[in-house]
Amino acid sequence: MRRCKFCGDEAYVVMRSPKMALCRVHYREFVERKIERVIHRYKMLKEGDRLLVAVSGGKDALATALALKNLGYEFECLHINLGIGEHSQLSENISREQCEKLGIKLHILNLRELVGAGIGEVRTRRAPCSYCGMTKRYLMNKFAVDNGFNVIATGHNLDDETAFLMGNLLHWNLNYLSRQGPMLSESDKMARRIKPLYELTNEDIENYVRLFDVPYVHERCPYSAGAKSILYGKVLKEVEDKSPGTKLNFVKGFLKNRELFPSEDIVLKECRVCGMPSLGEVCSFCRFWNLNKPLNLKVNIVHDDS
Ligand code: AMP
Ligand code: FES
Ligand code: ZN
Ligand code: ZN
Repeated sequence: MRRCKFCGDEAYVVMRSPKMALCRVHYREFVERKIERVIHRYKMLKEGDRLLVAVSGGKDALATALALKNLGYEFECLHINLGIGEHSQLSENISREQCEKLGIKLHILNLRELVGAGIGEVRTRRAPCSYCGMTKRYLMNKFAVDNGFNVIATGHNLDDETAFLMGNLLHWNLNYLSRQGPMLSESDKMARRIKPLYELTNEDIENYVRLFDVPYVHERCPYSAGAKSILYGKVLKEVEDKSPGTKLNFVKGFLKNRELFPSEDIVLKECRVCGMPSLGEVCSFCRFWNLNKPLNLKVNIVHDDS
């Protein structure tokens, strides 16, 4: 039987990078410390921030909420029901159950109620995942801005980030590469976006959430089948298995060499419809969903300023 490196109790997890075995108590401490270090290293959070955690019902968002709560941060959660049949209903129900168990306030937005259709219910040549991503980012940010949150945490993890990085390097998408990283700073009407799980793999996160008796959605979204990121994930897993630590070195090396991918100085306009930052006259959200007046996502939130 493998024993915990720190206390000698039965090991709960045997890790390959770093190479060590840990019991339940020390594994939890290891993961939460790692998240805390990432938050500090990238200066993700500061005194007075109002934090919103975007929860999908999946393990990554759940781990983000669990760790931030265990580390003593205060925040509320947001779930977006994307209108993807049973998958979205299940995701909403599980998100509710998670937040109830954690004792955290949950806000829910329903895409169909807001714009009249769900993901996959519009006639377009665009792949559902592409306009879904844009829709989620817009709604998270608009909800944050309308309700006084200046930071949004998502559950993006090391596997997501390395797959994204690999895809964008393979296709030399310099524009995306320049905006890639653990944090995107805030600006006018744009909340700061942070990824506290930036250095944790799927496996690390699964082992972490298994420590707690909280359910999560295991199934992927039905539109994700065949996504390129899944292929890149498989390739990277093979490399990582043979050479543990490669994924972490990949993102760290990228961040060290960021100046190779400078961001263009883009001057954003105000969307003519919603007033949010936009590249064109009308932002991609209002254009795609054919809106002629802004969404008002303001809810009644009492912020405790004491
Ligand atoms: P994904 O883009 O599905 O890989 O999700 C990445 C992160 O975005 C999740 O860990 C959540 O933090 C957030 N997210 C994804 N889907 C939703 C949703 N329907 N509602 C709220 N947040 C979401
Ligand atoms: Fe958006 Fe799959 S979650 S298309
Ligand atoms: Zn131990
Ligand atoms: Zn707009």
